[in-house]
Amino acid sequence: MRHLLSIDDISTDEIRAILDRGHQLATPATTLASRTVALVFMSPSLRTRVGFTVAAQRLGGRTVDVVEHRVTADMSSPESWDDTLRTVSGMVDLVVCRTPDRLDPSAAVTPVINAGDRDGHPTQALIDLFSIEAERGPVDQLHVALCGDLTQRSARSLLQLLRRMPPRSLVLSAPRSRSDHGIDLGTELESRTSWRPPDDLGAVDVVSMVGFPPGPAPTATSEADRRAHVLTGDRIRRLPTDAVVLSPLPVIDEIDDDARSDARIRMWAQSDRSVAVRMAVLEAALRWRD
Ligand code: CP
Repeated sequence: MRHLLSIDDISTDEIRAILDRGHQLATPATTLASRTVALVFMSPSLRTRVGFTVAAQRLGGRTVDVVEHRVTADMSSPESWDDTLRTVSGMVDLVVCRTPDRLDPSAAVTPVINAGDRDGHPTQALIDLFSIEAERGPVDQLHVALCGDLTQRSARSLLQLLRRMPPRSLVLSAPRSRSDHGIDLGTELESRTSWRPPDDLGAVDVVSMVGFPPGPAPTATSEADRRAHVLTGDRIRRLPTDAVVLSPLPVIDEIDDDARSDARIRMWAQSDRSVAVRMAVLEAALRWRD
């Protein structure tokens, strides 16, 4: 049984196949006909939950939202995560799951797709790379920058993916307290990586504003660090004219209103494309089941 919990769970060939298939799926197929996908979201989501719902439906499949589960302590009879996952996975063809903890799929009897857990968000990283290449071409030709809290799951998964498919160069920009992403970049990507201040990212082709999570300590970033890493109107105007700015969304405050109207902001196109990538992921995971 295979699961997609981390970028390392799929081969480079499979990554390329998912990205290529995402491009093809501008014309939807119906390969999920009579299949059911369970959406088990233990923490909030807009894009990932709605995106996988729409992706399954465009492929002709059905979805079931698991909005109540006995894992939560306030239920009358709490049960273990393993029992919940075993129950749900035995009734459907795929499980898409978000959890604030580390996603453990060991009790599942059908493939599980990580929709964002404590450590990573692999499908968001695939969407990010898909959009990088859709906007600017093959990633190995590009100078790519990541700016913000690099300890976040979406940034960590994107770094994992870029280790496997390295850009021409990688610029990282983060406050010291949010720079320890914990990802082994490997020799090739490490040699192409430099750290730069947020007001001087250099001649980059793509900037991914990975942002800062809101919330109380210890996850909160100091106001000074947040402000220092905001993409202001002045900063975006200093980027190359053909650069693009992406974001996994949601944007909290890391992109100023003054910068949002700049044509280099392409995060909405990135969001709009995400359904095709999620369709390709669902198709791939269904093959692991069959
Ligand atoms: N990017 C992302 O995962 O967004 P949601 O939390 O809204 O799913």
